[in-house]
Amino acid sequence: MQFQARLVTWNEIVDWCLKLRSHIVGSYHPDAIIGLSRGGLVPARLLSDYLWIKDLFSVKTEHWGITASKDGEAKITADPSLPIRGKNVLIVDDITDTGSSMKLAVDTIKKFQPASLKTSTMLHIEHSTYVPDYFATSVSAMEWTWFIFPWNIYEDVLNLTGKILHAPMHVRDLSDALKENFGLDINQRYLGELLQNFAKSGKVVSSGGMWGMPQGK
Ligand code: ADE
Repeated sequence: MQFQARLVTWNEIVDWCLKLRSHIVGSYHPDAIIGLSRGGLVPARLLSDYLWIKDLFSVKTEHWGITASKDGEAKITADPSLPIRGKNVLIVDDITDTGSSMKLAVDTIKKFQPASLKTSTMLHIEHSTYVPDYFATSVSAMEWTWFIFPWNIYEDVLNLTGKILHAPMHVRDLSDALKENFGLDINQRYLGELLQNFAKSGKVVSSGGMWGMPQGK
């Protein structure tokens, strides 16, 4: 086993965001939501609906370059005209894992002088150095998992595939290898569909019923 990964369903996303809604409503009244792009965009959009907040902005953070590997220091890009001065602001992300993206987002967004600032994530891994004000589910460090969110399936499945596809493989063997290396349950039919779509974008190649990575990848 290299590390544990699992597919997250849309139902789980909705459940976690509804849980966040119930923690937040009655305790904090944000005027604006900032979703951390890209992982926090969908949860932020759902919370903007569930909490009746139309002022929804995004700030881009970058930390996890290739699936499950950190890309040096966390980086942030915020539009200097972000109109949140004097507002109660809720920052939303998908997960606090190391905590460094959220910490950096808080430090950066504070400079815009909001009246108050709170943070929320759907998932919180207990080793994170930053604990959000609100989270739906906590995960112990022992149970660390790479969560494949429904908006990141192509990127993550391709990256995990690249970690095992050193020589061309049949979809059946690839599905078995994803299970062995990452505990990932992904049925052959769905994996086959994904691979065909990856191939159309030149991300994988197929020949004689076998799948491989393109030359130089
Ligand atoms: N981004 C940072 N940590 C993550 C994890 N464990 N799963 C999915 N996305 C992440």
